[in-house]
Amino acid sequence: MQMALKIWRYDSATGDRALKEYEFDAPEWATLLDCLDIVKDKQDGSLAFRKSCRMMICGSCGMRMDGAAVLACKTRMYDIAQEGRVPVISAMGKPSDPQGPRRRHGSFSGRSSRRCGRGSSRATSARKTAVSTGSRRSG
Ligand code: FES
Repeated sequence: MQMALKIWRYDSATGDRALKEYEFDAPEWATLLDCLDIVKDKQDGSLAFRKSCRMMICGSCGMRMDGAAVLACKTRMYDIAQEGRVPVISAMGKPSDPQGPRRRHGSFSGRSSRRCGRGSSRATSARKTAVSTGSRRSG
């Protein structure tokens, strides 16, 4: 199917914003995230956006389409292409931070959470040891 997207682009060097239009061919099953990947691969390698799971779980691909908040990996583009609409995409996340803050802090990763939990229990037992040692010295 023939698709078109208008994407707000930001130039960090000059601070300028510009609405740029991309036209491309996409499969009928394509989501907004698939379309963005096509644009990045075939037309504009400087396009940057967040993504991770592609299964509507992590929320990394959250962005705005025509002013509404959407998950790019959930949003099917077939109906939009049939209507001939050209959606405007914005708020795609910081290009310099493709993993997003949630990923860095590991808040949705079970492994990192366990590590954090273990660390805090070690800190707690160290505090208990210090307290018990202090009480022996004073008593
Ligand atoms: S990539 Fe994880 S919710 Fe879309």
